[in-house]
Amino acid sequence: MTDEWIKVSAPATTSNIGPGYDVFGLALKEPHDIIEARRTDSPGVTISGITGNGSGSIPLDSAKNSAAIAAEAVLERCGAEFGIELRITKGIRPGSGIGSSGASAAGGAFAANILCDGKLTKQETVLCAAHAEDVTSGGLHADNVAPCILGGFTVIRSYEPFEVISIDPPADLGVVLALPDVTVYTADSRKVVPREVPIRDLTYQVGNASALVYAMVTGDLGLIGRSVKDIIVEPARTHLVPLLKQAEDTAMSHGALTSFLGGSGPCVITFYNKKTHDGGIIAAAIADLYDKNGIGCETWITECGEGCRRI
Ligand code: HSE
Repeated sequence: MTDEWIKVSAPATTSNIGPGYDVFGLALKEPHDIIEARRTDSPGVTISGITGNGSGSIPLDSAKNSAAIAAEAVLERCGAEFGIELRITKGIRPGSGIGSSGASAAGGAFAANILCDGKLTKQETVLCAAHAEDVTSGGLHADNVAPCILGGFTVIRSYEPFEVISIDPPADLGVVLALPDVTVYTADSRKVVPREVPIRDLTYQVGNASALVYAMVTGDLGLIGRSVKDIIVEPARTHLVPLLKQAEDTAMSHGALTSFLGGSGPCVITFYNKKTHDGGIIAAAIADLYDKNGIGCETWITECGEGCRRI
């Protein structure tokens, strides 16, 4: 390998997906970040540029940047004797709830592993990216970086020891992202999550979580809609996102399977059946709701996608 630049695409992801706080994640086709990387003679990771959506708020300092921290973790794990220079183009703005820091971390780890001749398994690469999330997002969670690297729908079975499983989601599952023009930082959003839950709420979440996994495996879209339920985490975060309930109700009244808070927010995620419904109509209705209330809202009509890939 020479010092030529390599380029990696790292997709947005939606995490939690109702009952699976820090457990479930789904890779999306759009939007995505681009991470470019090349070897350098001097050790360590440097960032020579960050451009794109919301790039002004992202630190160039390697000790604080998720792509750099993840790439450094890969170098260490591989015992590499070289360094890495990174260039980042953000397609996913920070504080969106669709895995902005996760995409940069996953892309940084994935690119670094290519430069290390693919020494790490995908699961090890996920762990390096999760380490970066721990440093930059106020707590260890791999439910964005796992789908970002592995693609599809992922389940973190256990953090210690780490085990993630990957499932192909149904092809008919359409996804609408509605991103209101407010910023919610994951570190802040994690602080409002309850530390303890009543056993009855736990029973409710486990039932829905189990059913959601079964529905993803069998492609039962109706059951997916019924199982994306969360009575613990989203209710604690609702106040952080203007018009969240109204946006979800708007999606449901236009035929959505389910509509819920994406990750730590503020993105509102809607699942719909691509065969029977038009994602454009759902997206326009939510954007209109925000517009009428004086809040901008960017939308994407997308679907489940693959993980990080070299482009
Ligand atoms: N599971 C994490 C959370 C995802 O909800 O805080 C952050 O995007």
